[in-house]
Amino acid sequence: MRKKIVAGNWKMNNNLSETIALIEEIKQIIQPDNKVEVIIAPPFTNLNKAVELLKNFPVTVAAQNMHYADKGAYTGEISADMLLSIGVQTVILGHSERRIYYNETDQSLKEKALQAYKKNMTNIFCVGEKLSDRQAEKHFEIVENQLKNALFQLPVQAYKKIVIAYEPVWAIGTGETASPEQAQEMHAHIRQILAKKYGQDLARNVRILYGGSVKPANAGEIFAQPDVDGGLIGGASLNANDFNAIIEAAKS
Ligand code: PGA
Repeated sequence: MRKKIVAGNWKMNNNLSETIALIEEIKQIIQPDNKVEVIIAPPFTNLNKAVELLKNFPVTVAAQNMHYADKGAYTGEISADMLLSIGVQTVILGHSERRIYYNETDQSLKEKALQAYKKNMTNIFCVGEKLSDRQAEKHFEIVENQLKNALFQLPVQAYKKIVIAYEPVWAIGTGETASPEQAQEMHAHIRQILAKKYGQDLARNVRILYGGSVKPANAGEIFAQPDVDGGLIGGASLNANDFNAIIEAAKS
């Protein structure tokens, strides 16, 4: 049985005081239980505070990115050890905004995924096609290549700490969601790709999240799909009530 995950990707939102306020609200509203794992990914500047505020509360803190090198002359970058040293053990890698605006490539993501594995961090690895890819009916191929190019270097045991997030680029922040059928179809495809490379057992156990305009109103039908194991939530994770409603949808 795969435990569901609801992860909030705050992106470049919330300064320190807003972060404190939102986490306090989350702690008031969210009813943790063992049916769903909850993660939030605030910006780097607020990770330390988030970890401190969530010390005795079952919500995990994740980073939105990290560098592949251990340390060195990489101005503006953050390493795995820096994250680990403040208690952050989870990182989102390959988000489409990073691929598009910051030229993250399969090659750099391959190195980042390897670093996350070496450092024993949980890697929420994002894949997803652009609208033009879907219109050209290349979406299955694109997602397959993203997975192969960045993750297939890794051994079976690495997948204990890998969560895949399918996020069609055309559905992110647009209000446009993949239909539950489109999400299910791609998630099943991802499982098949994993099964071919690593075997059925691994494919059955990896959690695959859907992301892209998930809201309280559509979360239930998306999460009800057999291969959807929860969601990576952008906009709606910035509102404690909406985030909670999505978490509740993942419980049922
Ligand atoms: P959205 O973002 O929910 O605002 O569409 C999802 C994401 O980018 O992870």
